[in-house]
Amino acid sequence: MPDILDWSGSDLERLELEAFEGRSNEMAARMREEVAAGRLPFLSMPYMDGLLEQLDGLQDYLAGFEHMLLLGIGGSALGARALQKAFFPRQDQPCHDGPWLWIADNVDSYALESYMAKLPPEKTVVVTVSKSGGTIETVGQYFIIRDWMRGRIGDDWTEHMLLVTDEKAGFLRKEADENAIRTLPVPDNLGGRYSVLSAVGLVPALFLGMDVRALVDGAREMAAPLADPGLDGEALAKLPSFDLAVWANGLMRAGYDQLIFFSYIPLWASFGDWFAQLWAESLGKEGKGSQPIAAIGATDQHSVNQMFLDGPRNKACLFLTCPTLPAGPRFPENLPDAFDYVRGKEFGELIQAEGMGTRMALQKNGVPLVEMRMEHDDPRQAGKLIALLGAATILAGWLMDINPLDQPAVELGKRLAKARLGADGLPEETADLADFLTSQRDEREF
Ligand code: PA5
Repeated sequence: MPDILDWSGSDLERLELEAFEGRSNEMAARMREEVAAGRLPFLSMPYMDGLLEQLDGLQDYLAGFEHMLLLGIGGSALGARALQKAFFPRQDQPCHDGPWLWIADNVDSYALESYMAKLPPEKTVVVTVSKSGGTIETVGQYFIIRDWMRGRIGDDWTEHMLLVTDEKAGFLRKEADENAIRTLPVPDNLGGRYSVLSAVGLVPALFLGMDVRALVDGAREMAAPLADPGLDGEALAKLPSFDLAVWANGLMRAGYDQLIFFSYIPLWASFGDWFAQLWAESLGKEGKGSQPIAAIGATDQHSVNQMFLDGPRNKACLFLTCPTLPAGPRFPENLPDAFDYVRGKEFGELIQAEGMGTRMALQKNGVPLVEMRMEHDDPRQAGKLIALLGAATILAGWLMDINPLDQPAVELGKRLAKARLGADGLPEETADLADFLTSQRDEREF
């Protein structure tokens, strides 16, 4: 049984997708051009063989530590967390005895204090991940953790640091050069949310013991036809990433402005957060896009699913399943009559039945849905999913006539925060801030 995209409930006919499908030649030409110019390393992966060699060389070094503290945010953290939760859930389960991966992806004083109070520095490697090398949430944590490590370890502190950053530019690159700190590169043109299959995601995955080659092989299988210099419109039109991009555009045009990522592979729930960032930061542009919503089966059947089923009819769904999840223990035979339908059945049958039930209920309630049915829940399938959704996002953005690789709108909030902290060179933001802070407020005690 291969991996399947099941389009049966997707409303393809009603969405009238011909106009988008008809752009396959144009999209293929764009893909050829962008790949040839090196602007899509996410798909062409020219860096991969070299990186895998570097990772082989890093294995013994990483094995010398029990804890990895990863400092990063957004695309520099979400992929690593998805891989950790999917394949190394034991840290969240009883009696885990290492290794431990701690992902510090927020400005959270409680967490940072706790890492410094409780992590043993001599057994900890700190991996700071930032493509730009200047993101304050990440670099700010680095400054504090660097002092902590230096204070506790002394001159050898650099041995406990690994920087994953741009090859040439940015503060972290300079920091690495000045202090001879070990580094791994984030290749040119590989932006955060597209970077999980670089050192950004693979270093923590390797530390945890993942078969990173299987992950990469899966991704390569999906990406290779797109990166093929001979790609033409006919070939592109047969690829699942193009189908998804066309579907997503049809949905948006028809007013479906929310896209649920519903994972019925419980351990893969964090791929929902990874996907949400990928989709939102790539496609929310110029008043266009659809809001991604990460949901977990069966948990969210008891929380947000009522809204999916009977709220505004503006939602579509990517529905993730895997029929070969472990069966788990059996229910006892001696159950009350009200539960006779599970007597002697395997626990795992419940999630499959609930997935089927929710999927059918969504469709019956008019939610266009594509099921992504994975043959196995292993790293190879995860690699395929990552490449499929990344490629679909890029193609969806091109069909929307926006740039899926930038995120200009998020800069304003960052500049205002800097102005608030007194940074120089932001006269407009400083003036805006003064207006905001002195304007008439409508504040009511509660
Ligand atoms: O996807 C993106 O580009 C962003 O979410 C970045 O990953 C995030 O802003 C962190 O950036 P950096 O890796 O430069 O610290």
